[in-house]
Amino acid sequence: MAELKMETLVSLCKRRGIIFPGSELYSGLGGTFDFGPIGVELKNNVKKAWWRSVVYERDDMEGLDAAILMHPRTWEASGHVEGFTDPLVDCRVCRKRFRADHIEEKDYLAFDVLIQEENDQWKETGREIFAESKKAAKKSLKGLSNSFPPDARIRIVQREGDPVRQKRCPECGGELTEPRLFNLMFKTFVGPVEEAAATVYLRPETAQGIFVNFDNILNTMRRRIPFGIAQIGKSFRNEITPRNFIFRTREFEQMEIEFFCKPGTDKEWYEYWVNERYNWYLRFGIREENLRLRPHDPDELAHYALACKDVEYKFPIGWSELEGIANRTDFDLSQHQKFSGKDLTYFDEEDRSRYIPYVIEPSGGVDRATLAFLADAYREEEVRGRERRVLALHPFLAPVKAAVFPLLKNRPELVELAKKLTADLKKRFYTIYDDTAAIGKLYRRQDEIGTPFCITVDVETLEDQAVTIRDRDTMEQERIALDRVPDRMNEKLLLH
Ligand code: GAP
Repeated sequence: MAELKMETLVSLCKRRGIIFPGSELYSGLGGTFDFGPIGVELKNNVKKAWWRSVVYERDDMEGLDAAILMHPRTWEASGHVEGFTDPLVDCRVCRKRFRADHIEEKDYLAFDVLIQEENDQWKETGREIFAESKKAAKKSLKGLSNSFPPDARIRIVQREGDPVRQKRCPECGGELTEPRLFNLMFKTFVGPVEEAAATVYLRPETAQGIFVNFDNILNTMRRRIPFGIAQIGKSFRNEITPRNFIFRTREFEQMEIEFFCKPGTDKEWYEYWVNERYNWYLRFGIREENLRLRPHDPDELAHYALACKDVEYKFPIGWSELEGIANRTDFDLSQHQKFSGKDLTYFDEEDRSRYIPYVIEPSGGVDRATLAFLADAYREEEVRGRERRVLALHPFLAPVKAAVFPLLKNRPELVELAKKLTADLKKRFYTIYDDTAAIGKLYRRQDEIGTPFCITVDVETLEDQAVTIRDRDTMEQERIALDRVPDRMNEKLLLH
């Protein structure tokens, strides 16, 4: 299959009710997306897969759902009020805004823009273009051309001198302003007055909700260190340049663990969680060749982190972060102890020592994971001379587990039987009934959303009480007794 393009996924998601642009009816709101009927199932299954692995299948984890709005001191303690900023630059020519650290330095040549006068002389217009090549300069000229009379003859001339290495506007080569720091937290107000004293923030990460509940959970759940707390929830960041579909948005969901351990054991736990999280993506179907670990360089580390590794996925936009695993030391609990005045030390009965626990944080994005699972599952195949598009999702993640069709929709007894089978299966698996097209088309529809099983009720079913069950991946069709259908599905859907 050719390299997957992001546009292919965007189009599939729109066509099949997976993901829509946010507020599309009003021409959209940048950096927001809405998950449609199929997308919400996929996203919920990603969250279920994570919760199962990190809470239900373990003995050393607890779950939490903390409030999105938190006391404003939280964000002073965490360093977000002071330091959760991106350097922002504006293009002085086209007025577009960018993150300075997203702009690469490049070799730019300078070009003058000339206009032909009535006396056939060429005169400089005072406008200049900076571009990597003459071809790129000509392209930028097209953008400028509506500022000249429609029949004006324009020429660009390369100025003397070597290319100069610098950062310029990636869209038009224009000069950029000096970077200004821009805080990414969304502000809002509690109560009826819009004043500084009532300012709160929409949380930019779920992590702080865990730290402020460390003591509550330790005591109420009678935990001993080491143990961890897992949380899934919305986070908000006023990203300067949200882009690449659901990869970077302004409203997104995070799946975060804060794992509390004894200082000195942190390096071991850090390696352990890096491994666990990498393997989780493999377990749910990401192909190994599309996954890698990238340790952060020392100058890349966040202010609180002793070490950090990213699990990266080969997205259609290239290798990018899917999840980060950081050793946050005792930074957060120490800060909250300082800002709240409450004792957050832990008494270790084993060696009768008292300390502030160290924290290992695996922090992933639900939307980014969903995008990776979608991208990795997408296949275009040729089957008997026809193109088949299929989402080969792990069955646990598949939005719909089975689709039931009557072979003939004008035979009420087949329709009735198919609907009864759907109702029975619905008690265990998300199952849908469909009779709105011919069987071939119905199969194609289900393949595109990754439904593992299509079940057809036909005339023979009335005699032999058996149905045809088609496997999404092998496309093999098997005739099995109606009462064996749930077991057959369980074989594939149960997690091992
Ligand atoms: N508590 C640590 C923390 O929040 P982060 O690297 O800023 O670390 C963790 O975010 C994960 O959250 C990222 O790996 C990514 O999956 C997701 N994420 C962060 N910003 C995002 C955005 N604007 N849109 C979608 N996902 C985002």
